Amino acid sequence: MEKLFNLLKDYYDEMVEIRRYLHANPELSFQEVNTPNYIAEYHRALGHEVKEGVGGRGVVATLHGAKPGKTVALRADFDALAIQEQSDLPYKSKVDGVMHACAHDGHTATLLVLAKALNKLQHEIEGSIVFIHQHAEEIAPGGAIEMIKDGCLEGVDVIFGTHLWATEPLGNIMVKEGPIMAASDRIHITVKGQGGHGSDPSNTKDSIVIAAQFITHLQQLVSRRVKSTIPAVVSIGHIEALNPFNVIADSVKMKGTVRTFDETTRTLLEEEIEEVLKASCFLTKADYDYQYFRGYPPVINHEKETAFLVQLAPQVPGVEKLHICEPLMGGEDFAYYLEQIPGVFFFTGAQSPHWEETYPHHHPMFNIDERALLIAANTLGVATLKYLQEH
Ligand code: NI
Repeated sequence: MEKLFNLLKDYYDEMVEIRRYLHANPELSFQEVNTPNYIAEYHRALGHEVKEGVGGRGVVATLHGAKPGKTVALRADFDALAIQEQSDLPYKSKVDGVMHACAHDGHTATLLVLAKALNKLQHEIEGSIVFIHQHAEEIAPGGAIEMIKDGCLEGVDVIFGTHLWATEPLGNIMVKEGPIMAASDRIHITVKGQGGHGSDPSNTKDSIVIAAQFITHLQQLVSRRVKSTIPAVVSIGHIEALNPFNVIADSVKMKGTVRTFDETTRTLLEEEIEEVLKASCFLTKADYDYQYFRGYPPVINHEKETAFLVQLAPQVPGVEKLHICEPLMGGEDFAYYLEQIPGVFFFTGAQSPHWEETYPHHHPMFNIDERALLIAANTLGVATLKYLQEH
């Protein structure tokens, strides 16, 4: 392992350079062109077997070790977000309205440079390593599902993935067995009342009043219908009824998000939200439209692989603390890989001890402490080599 750590330490500057290049040149989900080209080129220069356009825009590279053995996959996503960067970093986004505000630039830099280090150890490696560079993690249906259909997991025995996490202190590895990230679904609702003059409400069905009742009653679903020991979230994030001040709204549009960890609660909320909506409309005999879109399933870490990571993480250079965490309500399409094969998804702390203020993921001022890249590479690298040695 010493050799791997030394190589990665030597390549740290390159890792930062790649991350900053990608940060300055972000591309939106399902529109990535230069990023996958850049990734494919990097792997080709290392002599890896490279497949492009996997599941659309993904890149899969394979390093065959000198000796036969199992196959480990490592996954990094590479898409950015529709956010206008507000920082004045020297490497800030050059693309108007597009920003790497979730550290996927860092994930890609980590995996590329780790691939370079592992390549140098090829003569010692027993088995194969598959580098899965995934497009479009940010927007459902996401890139993972299509990459899997296109065969990126064929022959793979185990998968490891990490997310750099700006609200977790540098030096921490954060993980838990079982559900670690939520299923993330979307609801679209239209209340269809009957508009009219603001001075004459008795001749209308006021969609805004109905929507207000609906939103208020919605708060009781998680507190009164979902079992109190089970985590769940229902949030309305968008409400629209664009009328002049003296008009009763004919209709109101709402959009929201639903987060759960198990199929029973997911289905319960899908059905109960409609019941609340129906009841809210009932009093005034208004109508409604209800659509529930299923996003990513929950990310469920496998028992054995999580125990494997928990045991090795404290020995990794740079790791100061192993944080067994609560589940996070965010979504991740890494979930699909873990539905197919064993593996573990963990968080690498990337919050700088020197920051006065930490900006969360998807914030226009978002940034990471780049030293986390080295910790992520060390951890993924050890997990890979140890797994291949032990199996
Ligand atoms: Ni992300």
